[in-house]
Amino acid sequence: MTEISDIKSDICILGGGPAGYFTAIRASQLGASVVLIEQGEIGGTCLNRGCIPTKALLKTAEVADLLNKSNEFGIQISEPSFIIQNSISRKDKTVKNLKMGLEFLLNSKNINILKGKGTILSKNIIKVVADSGEFLVSFDKLIITSGSEPLKPNIKGIDLKNVITSNEAINIQEIPQNLTIIGAGVIGLEFATFFNALGSKVSIVELQQEILPHEDKEAVEELIKIMKRRGIKFYLGAGVNEIKEVDSELVTIFEQNGQNINLNSNYVLVAVGRKLNLSDDILNLGIKTKNGAIEVNEFMQTNVEGVFAAGDVTGGMLLAHLAFAQGKIAAENACGHKNKFNEVVPSCIYTHPELASIGLVEHEAGGRKLKIGKFEFRHNGRSLCNGHREGFVKVLVDASSDEIVGAHILGANASELISELTLAIKLKAKAQDLANMIHPHPTLSEAVMEACADAAGYPFHK
Ligand code: NAI
Repeated sequence: MTEISDIKSDICILGGGPAGYFTAIRASQLGASVVLIEQGEIGGTCLNRGCIPTKALLKTAEVADLLNKSNEFGIQISEPSFIIQNSISRKDKTVKNLKMGLEFLLNSKNINILKGKGTILSKNIIKVVADSGEFLVSFDKLIITSGSEPLKPNIKGIDLKNVITSNEAINIQEIPQNLTIIGAGVIGLEFATFFNALGSKVSIVELQQEILPHEDKEAVEELIKIMKRRGIKFYLGAGVNEIKEVDSELVTIFEQNGQNINLNSNYVLVAVGRKLNLSDDILNLGIKTKNGAIEVNEFMQTNVEGVFAAGDVTGGMLLAHLAFAQGKIAAENACGHKNKFNEVVPSCIYTHPELASIGLVEHEAGGRKLKIGKFEFRHNGRSLCNGHREGFVKVLVDASSDEIVGAHILGANASELISELTLAIKLKAKAQDLANMIHPHPTLSEAVMEACADAAGYPFHK
């Protein structure tokens, strides 16, 4: 080691993404001294390469969609042209702004941020190699929040130029004329939405026959129909075998229904899932893993005493808001509390329209007796004022207790609307509670009220 400075803390957190920085904030609120180790940028995937950059770019797509129907709103403009560099720099500014705020916040809470690569030497010591030298950090409790990164599958040609992952797609310097996306998961669908709105010809190649298998089937079917109407092509049940470069174009080769298909494009975006960051030093601690993820109990504890984990590295749903919630519990328990993770987790897909859901899905309800209420946005005044006729709110209600147990929203602002239903499920509210609650008029949230009234048997505007 070039230089060794010993740093001691109560809690050491490995990884500064949403799980890590939330854990740090909570632990410091509880009076612990905290060291947060991050080898890249504070904010991790979510702030630098995931949630925030993609949502900033998707705003460009939303503006493009509006401009395309400006006549309908009484505004005549010539055909819009896009300057992708401006969208990218707007995205960069948004990220920079948030990152500065986050670093200020962490500093104000006396969290010691060590920028460098951490290697776990034992459950109480980590070596950090930073630009300023090497440090040994010793601590009482360790919280692993090392996250995930895009998975590059073993497909021939995966390393060709212009075969990209979401990491590169958020910094692309030209709008692809033709784009092939491998994988119709959340990332594939969100990028399809973005590039399609900017005029790319987008094709999605998906291994399975069914996409988003854990989402409401009716909502997924309608979403695909809308995306197809916008010109996005879907090749389902199609596993990609190879990507080739021919005459400076990429050719994606796959089989569908026994037929060989060659798809030409300028770019191929690979979105087939994420690899969890489980390095050897983590595994050498003797930490138990399951399906390639750190196994934790409801207290976010691993099998190794004093070692906790939160966020993507624990597997399951890879969602920033879940990482925040898990990080909070890990911090509290590392500080001596005994709190269980016991939350309902909403899921949001930021396509246009958005698809947001919480709780039970109809096709996974088993034998449970349900009452289902539905309300379509084309009957909602505010939605029509906004120029949106697509989508619906669907609520699933337990037939014997009348409690809301699931909800699925396809529509503009679905990601905002889902929180009311998340609260309803958390507080075990009944369909009647939301149906009888006054919702401001005219708002999209009235569609939630109407769907609940429908489930309760007295729909107002249906
Ligand atoms: P994903 O697991 O959601 O979807 C990957 C898709 O690729 C699957 O449908 C799979 O069948 C398909 N696939 C796998 N190998 C293939 C092959 N060789 N050829 C064709 N298709 C193939 O993974 P994705 O979309 O990369 O997202 C990763 C994670 O990030 C997910 O857990 C997701 O929930 C999370 N995420 C969440 C967001 C949100 O909440 N809005 C936004 C972005 C990511």
